[in-house]
Amino acid sequence: MTDPTAPPFPATQRAGFSSGFGVLAATLGSAVGLGNIWKFPSLTGANGGAGFLLVYLLATLLIGLPVMMAEIAIGRQARANPITALVALSPRRQPWWLIGVAGMVAAFLISSFYSEVVAWVFAYVAKALRGSLLSSDPAVTEAAFQALITDPVQSLLWQWGVLAFIGGILLLGVTKGIEAITKKLMPLLFVLLLLLCAFSLTLDGAAQGLAFLFLPDWGKITAPVVLTAMGLAFFKLSIGMGTMMTYGSYFGNDQNIPATATRVMAADLCVSMLAGIAIFPAVFTFGFAPSAGPSLVFITIPAVFAQMPFGQVLMAAFFVLTAVAATGAMLSLMEVPVVTLHERWGLSRPRATVLTLVLLMVVGAGCALSQSTLAGFQPGGRTLFNWADYVSSNLLLPLGGIFIALFAGWAWGADNFRRALSNQGTLHNGALARAIVWVLRWVSPPLILAVMLRGLDLI
Ligand code: TRP
Repeated sequence: MTDPTAPPFPATQRAGFSSGFGVLAATLGSAVGLGNIWKFPSLTGANGGAGFLLVYLLATLLIGLPVMMAEIAIGRQARANPITALVALSPRRQPWWLIGVAGMVAAFLISSFYSEVVAWVFAYVAKALRGSLLSSDPAVTEAAFQALITDPVQSLLWQWGVLAFIGGILLLGVTKGIEAITKKLMPLLFVLLLLLCAFSLTLDGAAQGLAFLFLPDWGKITAPVVLTAMGLAFFKLSIGMGTMMTYGSYFGNDQNIPATATRVMAADLCVSMLAGIAIFPAVFTFGFAPSAGPSLVFITIPAVFAQMPFGQVLMAAFFVLTAVAATGAMLSLMEVPVVTLHERWGLSRPRATVLTLVLLMVVGAGCALSQSTLAGFQPGGRTLFNWADYVSSNLLLPLGGIFIALFAGWAWGADNFRRALSNQGTLHNGALARAIVWVLRWVSPPLILAVMLRGLDLI
């Protein structure tokens, strides 16, 4: 690269998001996903409620938000996939592009277990519509869930169906696929969520559910709990692997990056809270334990809904809502390898999409079959599914976050970064940009490293 400030791909050849609302819908579509509905409530439940929520909030504000801004700014400045972007913006010969390579690995790892959970959600939409989930006995709903996940054929076919569905949207492109679809799905998501919350708050256990979610029990905050909360903050905001860099490369030049990132963070937090408010009161009302873990969504929720008036309609609404949320997130996960293969290997976009799809079907099968054919294969005490989840959230995303913070804070050059955040000086957000650079230089990297080492029991 002779001129590192020149975008590597001419703007006219590259697709992008076409409007402010489109940028917001697509980016929020990436952030909102199973993380809000499957991970957030179950991790909050398993790690003691409000204390976990507080640590998660701190991690989001101190680490997540600045890293998200850095990623978007890097992507928009270079207007390219993460690997090309980091090559273009790095000082000569410094191998920061390795962040992009690690991101590709993370994208495949996350997609492979994520798509399997999405597969269960889609299967549950079908079941809820048929009314075949209605039992107030958790033993029955548990048996139904086990029957689904231990059936290799169903697990695999639903997963491949989900991947093909997402691949089909990606074939429509960035503007007509990702942007157009998320613009429709995001408002629908909020409507469904608010309806469910309103209903949940009328239940007898509402006060108990809210207390669990909002009153901290300090004794429960241990080092692994802090690591989990930080991992969730990365996972939630889709940062640490180049997703936000990729979406940043589709942002218009006039988009206010700090403002958009803050809005996305706040709206995403709202969705998590609303999901908690929809779920916990119902769980307490019908006498279930909040710490049911990941099975909360697939075992407890159907049993809870079965006891409510209009249970079947509400349950269908809940799983459609989850499917909607997961679609936007899956789109962003798959877009990273698609655009990287397209731009770096010179494959046409449709070919890159099909290649990504086929690779994911193969890699993802390891996770899809983790509860059936491969259930006995548990190196180090975890199934492939659980390894993919653990390694990506607690290792790859935080490591990616450290290096992205170091790159933006030091290597790229604070001036370049600040100029990108202020849209080349037109925004007058100098003080804010300086604060962000300072946090990314001095706060985020050591904090992430300390939490990681402590949480993994290495210090
Ligand atoms: N943020 C999404 C969720 O909460 C998941 C997700 C999409 C993601 N893209 C990502 C996580 C990139 C990490 C990295 O469900």
